[in-house]
Amino acid sequence: MTRARIGIVLAAGKGTRLKSNLPKVLHPVLGKSMLQRVLENLAPLGLDRVILVVGHQANRIEEHIATLKLPFPITSVLQEPQLGTGHALMQVAKVLPQETEAEALIACGDMPLVPAERYKALLEAQSPNRGAVALAAVELSNPAGYGRVIVENGQFRRIVEEKDATPEEKQVRLGNAGIYAVDWPLFSKHLALLNQNNAQGEFYLTDVMEILARQSDCQSVSVVTWPDEEEILGINSRHHLAQAAEILSKRTAQRLMEEGVSLIQPSSMTLAPEIRIGADSLLHPGCYLVGDIRIGSSSEIGPYTTMRGDITIGDHCRVVHSFLERAVTIGSGSYVGPFAHLRDNTIVGEQVRVGNFVEMKESRFGSRSNAAHLCYMGDADIGDEVNMGAGSIVANYDPVRDIKHRTTIAEGVKVGCNSVLVAPVTLGQRSCIAAGSVITQDIAPWDLAIARSRQVTIARWVEKALASDAGKSNNPSCPMS
Ligand code: UD1
Ligand code: MG
Repeated sequence: MTRARIGIVLAAGKGTRLKSNLPKVLHPVLGKSMLQRVLENLAPLGLDRVILVVGHQANRIEEHIATLKLPFPITSVLQEPQLGTGHALMQVAKVLPQETEAEALIACGDMPLVPAERYKALLEAQSPNRGAVALAAVELSNPAGYGRVIVENGQFRRIVEEKDATPEEKQVRLGNAGIYAVDWPLFSKHLALLNQNNAQGEFYLTDVMEILARQSDCQSVSVVTWPDEEEILGINSRHHLAQAAEILSKRTAQRLMEEGVSLIQPSSMTLAPEIRIGADSLLHPGCYLVGDIRIGSSSEIGPYTTMRGDITIGDHCRVVHSFLERAVTIGSGSYVGPFAHLRDNTIVGEQVRVGNFVEMKESRFGSRSNAAHLCYMGDADIGDEVNMGAGSIVANYDPVRDIKHRTTIAEGVKVGCNSVLVAPVTLGQRSCIAAGSVITQDIAPWDLAIARSRQVTIARWVEKALASDAGKSNNPSCPMS
């Protein structure tokens, strides 16, 4: 009979040391909550369901979980008060009866760096023929704070918490990662035997392992040694949060370089694991790329460019000293920046030039179009081969009614410098706006619109004014009066 595979994620801890209103597991690490990262790392394991143990601010955690897309259903159980990891599992046992034929993977919601393959190895070590419980252990350079895994004559004996350890036991560097794969009927049967007779007055999950080892010639507990102590970083402080982000970023940099991307000064960058970049692209120093980011091949990003959110960049693009956020797509062969700000559902076509101090929001900007200097385009549908002159502005906002209007600029339109297009307005294809115009009415295709006061030129006025000041002639009339 095949056993069900169930994930159990412990997330009831308060995270006192973070000194935060936000529950610990909701703190973001490079754009995703640490809990989301843990659950996504569990995603490839073929879990039938996940049970989340929640305590502090359970509602907020449940609300967050509801927003995630994961391949397994998640239910939560409340642990209140929190009397230790063993007590957390006792709450799970209330919803997962002992007779449930299942293997359970017990993971921590505050360990976002454990990769899926580690969990896989642990599950494999726990099988009816290889021992009923597997625990993950890591040889630690500094084991302080971790439970120590005591192995005698090659046989697992017990896990002793730092606070309960003798000076001799404290010398042991094999630390308990706090992650286990267990045969549920066997494991859960022993939860009732736990007590609080220890330095912290808690129910220790780890005591189940000791009980099992005593009962069965140690055959039922296997210790799986994980190779990398960075991976089991459990986040308890702001310092740990920073450390986790740095580790993820460093790992991403390594992966990208292996995939054929050049990085100049990777230590200056923040790179979320989600980003995908094609070969022969180049990242200059100071790139901050956090989110669902796709960059094609042979593109050049940075220096000092921020991409946050869902960002897609084509091949052979350059994005220099710019800020792209929420949802932005840029077609191949386009050149953006320096100092462009593109945001919120903006789609830029191919071979486009978006230059210095140009902002676009909720806009589509057609292929081979140009906005080279000092423009704002908000809520605008702009066709191919449009030229937005320097300083042109789409005035999309009606501040009196607090509403935004859309503007349509058809293919091939030329907007003169320093023009204001007051939305809603439509400029027909190939129409032309004279520089300095304020456009409030639609313009038909091929028309020229000029909406500014006529120039007045007064012959030799300056010369006459100076002569008058020197008392050589009468005061010339002021053209402004
Ligand atoms: C636990 C292990 C220790 C191991 C360490 C690894 C026990 C007794 N000790 O230590 O051997 O080296 O993890 O990090 O298990 N949690 C709950 N409810 C509780 C207490 C904790 O859900 O009542 C959750 C926490 O939110 C966290 C996880 O369990 O996700 C581990 O708890 P934590 O307090 O960080 O670990 P320790 O008990 O110190
Ligand atoms: Mg604890």
